[in-house]
Amino acid sequence: MIHQLVYYSRNTVPGGDRAMLTNMRDILSVSQRNNSRDGVTGFLIFDKTWFVQILEGERAKVTETYARIARDTRHTATAIINVRDVPARLFPNWTMGGAMRTPEVQEVYLQHGFGGPLEPGRLKSDQVVNLALDLQAFEANRRQGQKLAS
Ligand SMILES: Cc1cc2nc3c(=O)[nH]c(=O)nc-3n(C[C@H](O)[C@H](O)[C@H](O)COP(=O)(O)O)c2cc1C
Repeated sequence: MIHQLVYYSRNTVPGGDRAMLTNMRDILSVSQRNNSRDGVTGFLIFDKTWFVQILEGERAKVTETYARIARDTRHTATAIINVRDVPARLFPNWTMGGAMRTPEVQEVYLQHGFGGPLEPGRLKSDQVVNLALDLQAFEANRRQGQKLAS
């Protein structure tokens, strides 16, 4: 069984898109290093106000990782949406994928009924997982497109 934890938190790092993108990249690069060591996979959604993250892996590792994340001052008010055991990883190819909400991915949000800002307190974990899977697919297609064009 794979342990899956979904939580949200509020971003505390001020600044415009550039600063936020840098912040997001810093977080993802450390996450990818640690998570590949710990066998943790998942996806980080960032809509500039809120982070929503899915962590999956061995229970102890997921718990440990979440405890470390929750102490991070780059966000606050971390709140768990759901924890459960799932039969298999949903993000097996990503130590930690991530997507910042940009105009480019707005269509993906719209497809999931998120026209305006996220209201993470009302999110169900399945909504988060489905949005993350589509953001991941969007990103994978975009990269594929770049490869074909080059
Ligand atoms: C929104 C958010 C998500 C994060 N996700 C992860 C993660 O998945 N894995 C991880 O190791 N660190 C994650 N971090 C970073 C941790 O809070 C912490 O800075 C890092 O794990 C420390 O690693 P180090 O002890 O190797 O420097 C995240 C931080 C934030 C703000």
